[in-house]
Amino acid sequence: VRRVRIPHLQAMKERGEKWAMLTAYDQYSAEIFDEAGIPVLLVGDSAGNNVFGFETTVPVTVDHLLPLVKAVTTSARRAMVVADLPFGSYQASPEQALGTATRFMKEGLAHAVKLEGGKAMVPEIELLVRAGIPVMGHVGFTPQSEHVLGGYKVQGRGDAADRLVDDAVALEQAGCFAVVMEMVPAPLAARVTEVLSIPTIGIGAGPDCDAQVLVWSDMAGLRGGKPPRFVKKYADLRGTLAEAARAYAADVASGAFPAAEHSFEE
Ligand code: KIV
Ligand code: NA
Repeated sequence: VRRVRIPHLQAMKERGEKWAMLTAYDQYSAEIFDEAGIPVLLVGDSAGNNVFGFETTVPVTVDHLLPLVKAVTTSARRAMVVADLPFGSYQASPEQALGTATRFMKEGLAHAVKLEGGKAMVPEIELLVRAGIPVMGHVGFTPQSEHVLGGYKVQGRGDAADRLVDDAVALEQAGCFAVVMEMVPAPLAARVTEVLSIPTIGIGAGPDCDAQVLVWSDMAGLRGGKPPRFVKKYADLRGTLAEAARAYAADVASGAFPAAEHSFEE
């Protein structure tokens, strides 16, 4: 099986072929999405609120994410695996970013890294790319800055639109191979997608991005409660698992499980 690489994603943009990215945090999600043909898997710091039980991505550390990245890279045969750089692990300096990204590439066996931010991140991105590490950018709503942004809010409305375009252009010029746009008005995301020659990956950014990304536990209905507006729920895994757990417990209580076929003879 040939691994998906940057030129494949670039060729899809040029052909106008849209593709889907999903998060993955462990062996089974990686195997299943890889076998389903998802070309890019993101080990997102959304693990904070999908694996580790935090409310936000802010508390997530390199030590949290590294083992998950390694699990996904060793389980996915074809997908490109992108490791998210956690809050506080890259913003201090280009050297800090290189140190962190190197750990994800060497110890996590990642194929690329992702970091949040626009123009301000250009020195970090340039150093990583010069060192041989592919970088995915992330603009619009950036969850690691939610305390500055004042919560989950659409970004790039009104006067902020031109600034968002400038940020995205700066990321491309710095050497990013793709850019995530999160919670951006659809027409603005379309404009950025037109302006950039690298693929744009939308989440809450309308239908005109080159690709889309969703958090897998949102997409498959594993999380509880009402998902954000930009999520489409393709399954009800939470309901399916709850039903399985209740059926198993009932079988144990009634003595229906284990049956003879689950038991060993002398
Ligand atoms: O952490 C994450 O899952 C992400 C995607 C939603 C883009 O950053
Ligand atoms: Na993230």
